Amino acid sequence: MRVVSGIQPTGSLHLGNYLGAIRNWVRMQDEVSAEGGQCLFFLADLHAISMPHDPAELSANTLGMVAALVACGIDPDRSVLFNQAQVPAHAELQWLLNGTARMGWLNRMTQFKDKSGKNREGASIALFTYPVLQAADVLLYQTTHVPVGEDQKQHLELARDIAQKFNNDFCTPEAPVFTLPDPIIPPQSARIMSLRDGTAKMSKSDPSDMSRINLSDDADMIMKKVKKAKTDAEPLPSEAAGLAGRPEAVNLVSIYGALSGKSTDEVLAEHGGQGFGAFKPALGELMVEVLAPIAGRFNELSQDRESLDAILARGAARARELASPTLAATYRALGLVRG
Ligand code: TYM
Repeated sequence: MRVVSGIQPTGSLHLGNYLGAIRNWVRMQDEVSAEGGQCLFFLADLHAISMPHDPAELSANTLGMVAALVACGIDPDRSVLFNQAQVPAHAELQWLLNGTARMGWLNRMTQFKDKSGKNREGASIALFTYPVLQAADVLLYQTTHVPVGEDQKQHLELARDIAQKFNNDFCTPEAPVFTLPDPIIPPQSARIMSLRDGTAKMSKSDPSDMSRINLSDDADMIMKKVKKAKTDAEPLPSEAAGLAGRPEAVNLVSIYGALSGKSTDEVLAEHGGQGFGAFKPALGELMVEVLAPIAGRFNELSQDRESLDAILARGAARARELASPTLAATYRALGLVRG
């Protein structure tokens, strides 16, 4: 079993990343390394330049994100933790796969439509070809499983399409170059929504900091954000059917469920009939309980630049090694002469 996943270092880690993906990374790291498999987790900094960005901020966020991942439980001794820019094979494989990816496939990607908005002509080429780099990230390591949130499902389907077409076009059926990866999406917390709008996902790029819980927020800030979270005026129902048409209530209940390990029915059995005035403090306290130890480790580690650099250097050396056979096989399959 080979597990690979990435996160863009475009801001600080938030509750959506944690519940939708990182918590699952940690779980898989424990299972997979016990079985002798290998997990690779990386900072997708090459992806981050697909949108306008500040270079100094990107460097700082990259190091901050390494500290955050280790604070969440990613163990650089058991998993390969690295930064994309330190492993040139990612960018190389992307170019090689650009010959296989089709314009029509990329045109269907919803992320490009969302992020480019009305200004398609002004969007960067990198934003358009972003999913091909993501396919390269995964295909480079003969990945079998990719733990991600729901929003990345379409990109993973594209990676499978690219792998399949490449194998068909350039390989014999007995010796395909690429393994087809399966996405692993957590059922309960696949999509954590904004605290200001239950129909928009919680995101690093939302201009309002009140829309998300950052893993670096202290207890007071967490309580404040939860108390100010948008809700309707009705009390919580005692059955899930009563949540229909109430996106903000659904979001807060599913965050509570994801943090406590309870199903929606269980949360409603406990809190049904309560108004948000009572439910919100309970939710805030639960968040603080789960996040406070992570924040403590994060604050300590993020001061230790030397350790962070060392983690990245070691991870990149190992990733370069693991990437090299597939990259060489891809060049060979395409007939590119390299001496
Ligand atoms: P990114 O940086 O936006 O998010 C990192 C991970 O967090 C998940 N996530 C969420 N899950 C639930 N609710 C939310 N509100 C929420 N927001 C984010 C994402 O699904 C993701 O799993 N393109 C990727 C990074 C990437 C990647 C890869 C992932 C680059 N190459 C290869 C997997 C494999 C991204 O921008 O994720």
